[in-house]
Amino acid sequence: MEFFIDTGNIEEIKTAYEWGFIDGVTTNPSLVAKEGIGQEQLIKMISEIVDGPISAEVISTDAKGMLAEAQELAKIHDNVVIKLPMTKDGMIACKALSDQNVKTNITLVFSANQALLAAKNGATYVSPFIGRLDDIGQTGIHLIQEIREVFDNYGYMTKILAASIRHTDHVKTSALVGSDVATIPFKVLNALFNHPLTDKGLDQFLKDHQNSLK
Ligand code: G3P
Repeated sequence: MEFFIDTGNIEEIKTAYEWGFIDGVTTNPSLVAKEGIGQEQLIKMISEIVDGPISAEVISTDAKGMLAEAQELAKIHDNVVIKLPMTKDGMIACKALSDQNVKTNITLVFSANQALLAAKNGATYVSPFIGRLDDIGQTGIHLIQEIREVFDNYGYMTKILAASIRHTDHVKTSALVGSDVATIPFKVLNALFNHPLTDKGLDQFLKDHQNSLK
């Protein structure tokens, strides 16, 4: 399973990348806006830290505009993945970019049918937003299960990228149902290390070691 970090914050990316298990980065316009730097500059800075896929999202809502933006974003670095919304225009742009072997990540996916359309148009990744489904009283993880089944039925190579992850249980359940990737906020990545018995056990080992020196 691949782990991406879901942030535009350079310090968070540097810290998490040092931990060794981060394979890539996802951003979105809301995350970029928080950083007070233009997207192009930010993606360039990220590409100097992380050697792996970096999703950069288009702002245009028409396919022509999306493709023009994609062309500029793709110039920043070979690792840039073009993030497109799950709309008709997004699908037109996805097909055109897939035909040119440009990697895409289809975002704001909330149904298995939407994921199927993206896979048919050659998307590299689909991003089901599980936390936002939980927010409206549904069970986000069920969507990943459905998409996994649909993709496996037909051998689609499009990767399932679990997004909108809010807590550590989302990471575990995404792994259990076979998500290819999880994009995880820094706070949740940080929490993945924790277990009270690890802390208690380590504390005891260190105490016993100190006592043995007396
Ligand atoms: O990057 C897309 C997604 O992970 C956003 O998550 O928490 O804003 O629903 P959230």
